[in-house]
Amino acid sequence: MAERGSEMETVRLNNGVEMPLVGLGTFRLQGYETVHRALDAALGQGYRAVDTAAEYGNEADIGRALRELLPKHGLARRDLFVTSKLAPRDMGWGAAEAGCRHSLEALGLGYLDLYLVHWPGKQGHKSQDPRNPSWRRESWEAMERMQEAGSFRAIGVSNYTEGHLREMLPTCRIAPAVLQTEFHPRLVQRGLLDFCTAHSIHLQAYSSLGQGELVAEGTVLGVAASLGKTPAQVLLRWAVQQGVGVIPKSSDPQRIGLNRQLFDFRLGQEQMDLLSAMHSNTHYCWDPGPVV
Ligand SMILES: NC(=O)c1ccc[n+]([C@@H]2O[C@H](COP(=O)([O-])OP(=O)(O)OC[C@H]3O[C@@H](n4cnc5c(N)ncnc54)[C@H](OP(=O)(O)O)[C@@H]3O)[C@@H](O)[C@H]2O)c1
Repeated sequence: MAERGSEMETVRLNNGVEMPLVGLGTFRLQGYETVHRALDAALGQGYRAVDTAAEYGNEADIGRALRELLPKHGLARRDLFVTSKLAPRDMGWGAAEAGCRHSLEALGLGYLDLYLVHWPGKQGHKSQDPRNPSWRRESWEAMERMQEAGSFRAIGVSNYTEGHLREMLPTCRIAPAVLQTEFHPRLVQRGLLDFCTAHSIHLQAYSSLGQGELVAEGTVLGVAASLGKTPAQVLLRWAVQQGVGVIPKSSDPQRIGLNRQLFDFRLGQEQMDLLSAMHSNTHYCWDPGPVV
C-alpha cells in the first residue's frame, strides 16, 4: 500500500518494495564527466535513488559511473534504487521488450528497481492515433513479463492521465506501482493524486522546480525567507509533505546536497495553502492530456 503524508524518507510501494522519496533527476545531464561528478556528489550526500530514461541518452554513462562509484561510497547494488523508462519510440509488441532489454544492458546493473512507460503515446504518431491504447497494453504486458522474470523489481507509468490509468487497471495483471508525472505548485494535480492514493499507486513528481523557473517565484521566495530555507527546499518539501516523491535534477554538487535536506523542517498549513494557491495549470514540460 503506498503510504501518503508520511515523514519517512522512503515509501513502501504496492508490491512491498521500498523506494526513497527523494532521488536525483538526470534529464539533460550529459557527458560522462558531468554524470560522474553529479552522482559522486549525490551518493556522498545521501541520495540512494537515480532517475533516468532511454530517451535521455545517458543510461550507459549513469550505469558506468554508478558501478565505479559504489565501492568508493561503501555501497552495494542493493543499496541503490535505479529507475529508467521505456522510450516512446519503443511502444508496442516486440519493440517494448527490446527497449526494456536495451535499458538493462546500457545500465549494466543487473536489474532495475523501477521501469516506467515514459509516455502514453508512440513517438512518430499523432496523439489522436487510435492504436495508442493497444501499444500501451502491449508495452505493459512486456514489462509485466520482465518483472516476473526478475529484471525489474517494480513497474509503473509516466505521464498517464487518470483516463489512461482507468483504462489499464481492470485488465493489467500487475498494477502500476508508481505514476511519475509533472506536479508542483503551478500544476497541482489534486484529483490525480487522490486517484493514485485510492488505488495504491505512488505519485512521484517531476519538474518540481519548474525546470528552475519556480525558484524565482515571489510566493516561494517569501516562504523560503520566513523559514531560512532555499526556494528549492520549499518546493520539494511541499511535495514530500503530501507523500509525493521528488527527483530534482541538478549538476551542481552544492545544490544536489541542499535539495535532499527536506526532512528536518515542516511547512505550516498556511504555507502549504499559499503554495498550492499558485496553481495556474502550467506545464513546464509536456501535457499528456491530448493522448488518446
Ligand atoms: N517522466 C517524464 O516525462 C519526465 C519529464 C521531465 C523530467 N523528468 C525527470 O524529473 C527530473 C526533474 O525534472 P526537470 O529536470 O524537468 O526539472 P527540475 O528538477 O524542476 O529543475 C531542474 C533545473 O533546476 C535547476 N536547479 C536544481 N536545483 C536548484 C536549486 N537548488 N536552486 C536553483 N535551481 C536549481 C537545475 O540547474 P543546475 O543543474 O544548474 O543546478 C535545472 O536547470 C528530470 O531530471 C528527470 O529525471 C521526467
